[in-house]
Amino acid sequence: MSLRLGDIAPDFTAETTQGTIHFHEWLGNSWGLLFSHPADFTPVCTTELGKTALLKGEFEKRGVKVIAVSVDDLDSHNRWVPDIQEVNGVEVNFPIIADGDRNVATLYDMIHPNASEKATVRSVFVIGPDKKIKLTLTYPASTGRNFQEILRVIDSLQLTANYQVATPADWKDGDDTIVVPAVSTEDAINKFPKGVNVVKPYLRYTPQPNK
Ligand code: BEZ
Repeated sequence: MSLRLGDIAPDFTAETTQGTIHFHEWLGNSWGLLFSHPADFTPVCTTELGKTALLKGEFEKRGVKVIAVSVDDLDSHNRWVPDIQEVNGVEVNFPIIADGDRNVATLYDMIHPNASEKATVRSVFVIGPDKKIKLTLTYPASTGRNFQEILRVIDSLQLTANYQVATPADWKDGDDTIVVPAVSTEDAINKFPKGVNVVKPYLRYTPQPNK
């Protein structure tokens, strides 16, 4: 069965380009981003892994540890990494799991046989410090992911984990947020001293509380 939001992210031990990793131990108390790509030495994947490396500072700022996976072996990853670095002008600064036995791909349901029997799709899992899955995304091989969107979602996840707010359509860090329905308007006025704008009894905006 596929993994659902709120499930514990399965633990595993795997060989990576940065040595053997025990996943939960490696995550520690950090947030995690585990993402699969279909294959090494492919064009879209080369841009995606480069983009991820270029965003190292953004992931670090948010306390997120990043790890990639495909079903290629370690020798293949190690031969491909210099290409990623050359094309994108950046050091690949996160581990890539060598999942030749498909252990991780199977645990995370990353092979969708009706799309490809052999390769992983472009799966994304954001994992919280409690090791629970906070977000899943699935893209086909032909569509590279938007890593700004992944950062945007992480901002929302981290904000809403700590405050009784939700984020509206197209929200980005710094925009107004929405008071969750469980909080009455009377309580919201006390909880959110920056103000509450009542558009409907069920739609109450408040400035982002952690700004
Ligand atoms: C790519 O990464 O470019 C790619 C991989 C598999 C199928 C199509 C594109």
